[in-house]
Amino acid sequence: MSSKSESIVAKVFEAGQELFVQFLGLSIAQQVSIVILVPFIYNIVWQLLYSMRKDRVPLVFYWIPWVGSAVTYGMKPYEFFEECRQKYGDIFAFVLLGKVMTVYLGPKGHEFILNAKLADVSAEAAYTHLTTPVFGKGVIYDCPNSRLMDQKKFVKGALTTDSFRKYVPLIAEEVQKYFLTSKNFSIGEKDHGIINVMVTQPEMTIFTASRSLLGSEMRDKLDTGFAYLYSDLDKGFTPLNFVFSHLPLDNYRKRDHAQQTISATYLSLIKKRRENNDIKDRDLIDTLMKTSTYKDGVKMTDQEIANLLIGVLMGGQHTSAATSAWFILHLAERPDIQEELYQEQMRVLDNGKKELTFDLLQEMPLLNQTIKETLRLHHPLHSLFRKVMKDMPVPNTSFVVPKGHHVLVSPGYCHLQDKYFPNAEKFNPHRWDNDAASSYASGEQVDYGFGSISKGVSSPYLPFGGGRHRCIGEHFAYMQLGTILSNFIRTLTWKYADDSATVPTPDFQSMVTLPLAPAEIAWKLRK
Ligand code: HEM
Ligand SMILES: *[C@@H]1O[C@H](CO)[C@@H](O)[C@H](O)[C@H]1NC(C)=O
Ligand SMILES: *[C@@H]1O[C@H](CO)[C@@H](O)[C@H](O)[C@H]1NC(C)=O
Ligand SMILES: *[C@@H]1O[C@H](CO)[C@@H](O)[C@H](O)[C@H]1NC(C)=O
Repeated sequence: MSSKSESIVAKVFEAGQELFVQFLGLSIAQQVSIVILVPFIYNIVWQLLYSMRKDRVPLVFYWIPWVGSAVTYGMKPYEFFEECRQKYGDIFAFVLLGKVMTVYLGPKGHEFILNAKLADVSAEAAYTHLTTPVFGKGVIYDCPNSRLMDQKKFVKGALTTDSFRKYVPLIAEEVQKYFLTSKNFSIGEKDHGIINVMVTQPEMTIFTASRSLLGSEMRDKLDTGFAYLYSDLDKGFTPLNFVFSHLPLDNYRKRDHAQQTISATYLSLIKKRRENNDIKDRDLIDTLMKTSTYKDGVKMTDQEIANLLIGVLMGGQHTSAATSAWFILHLAERPDIQEELYQEQMRVLDNGKKELTFDLLQEMPLLNQTIKETLRLHHPLHSLFRKVMKDMPVPNTSFVVPKGHHVLVSPGYCHLQDKYFPNAEKFNPHRWDNDAASSYASGEQVDYGFGSISKGVSSPYLPFGGGRHRCIGEHFAYMQLGTILSNFIRTLTWKYADDSATVPTPDFQSMVTLPLAPAEIAWKLRK
């Protein structure tokens, strides 16, 4: 250092010391207001300077450092996005609990983020704090992307048409058993009652998913004390866990205990099947025991298989439970559509003479369209995130999203725009009358290692995402939800318990968008 700069440093230091002495001489009230004011003013000046950069996307103004727009975004993300779009256009950024989120709304945003290059963005860096303590190590977002692509391929081995043909009767049996034995249904003894769909649908989802994907032993465990562990695990899977992944609090301890106990239980079933050489084609456990060697010859450990089972079940649990809760609630105010669905059931199942099968499900377009419309109105995941790993220029703009920021894509926002879906706020399964398939399979295809999917992701309708992180559970979800809805329609009719009630507003603060209480319906047994 030159003597000149040394003397500057010394002067600044002296001035600093002097300021500090003056600060100590102030009253407590004055000190407190300075401690609060300095970061506050710094924050505003920083935003002013930032807003002058031509290479940065417009930043939504915020008053409170670090917190940023967390409250408005967290309460009503779609309204927040819409207000921002009107002010800034489709591309803008906001601060969320210390992170800068760049949002790109609309089909071009879907393409920019979901089809970003592997080297540019990372899902694991965005999600691992939330998912790894819940799923366990070595899988999903606790491994390199190439491992995840292989894991998705392994899992898809249990999500084939042949497996679905086995699952449909098992799922139908679970739903009927639930109608008979759960307290508020008990349809053997009662012919009407009231249910809270936020209680019944998560239960029905875990029972049916466990019976089909994990087999009867794991399903039967849910009738014992085991079920509380899933609920403890769930409570550790909340948006708060994104920000604080480990805290010395009771629910974190319970989460970790549940992860260990559940994975140990799966592990012991895996070991038992291996010892007895009892590996068939029953469920996902069999599938993974047969096929879980990565492309480079490395084998997944049994512990990793157990963790992957937790991850896959978790991926399907909240999404499917929320979707079935929402379609029950929408249909509660649409007896006309319940009746149409019933007619479809009677036509395809020959007035109830045929048992429901996977193949017959494919002949029920209105059933599909009801699920499809529900997923349009209630995308379970309002925001998908990636962490930016390399500066990303935004095509056709002067903007660069810098390394270290996050990108946020919201297909669910497009789902609600009149521009793409006339009368978008209205529940209307018939808007899909010529288009009952769950998603668009048109156009060029691409394979990231887990089967071919649509290359383009600029559709305004993307309930299952797109690109290398696209959902592999789509067909399972349609099969599971279709079987549940078919059984509801053939067994019951329903309306709101309270005659003046309408479809509840969404709660965006949990992991998936859920109906706010009261989510109760009054059911009646069909004659
Ligand atoms: C209505 C039901 C479902 C919806 C709406 C849904 C939605 C999604 C979405 C939007 C993504 C992309 C996430 C992202 O890009 O960040 C995704 C990924 C995924 N989903 Fe689903 N899902 C559903 C059911 C299921 C089911 C039943 C399973 C398992 C059987 C499942 C397993 C997965 C997996 C493994 C991924 C891949 C994650 C990745 O590659 O990063 N999902 N899902
Ligand atoms: C059972 O019914 C009562 C009212 O009869 C209701 O308050 C409660 O939420 C219902 N529980 C479930 C699990 O549906
Ligand atoms: C319903 O959606 C599934 C899943 O995409 C599809 O395989 C099936 O053909 C659809 N059924 C009808 C009747 O279009
Ligand atoms: C950029 O602009 C060109 C010319 O208008 C257009 O063809 C292209 O689709 C745009 N690309 C993106 C990603 O917006």
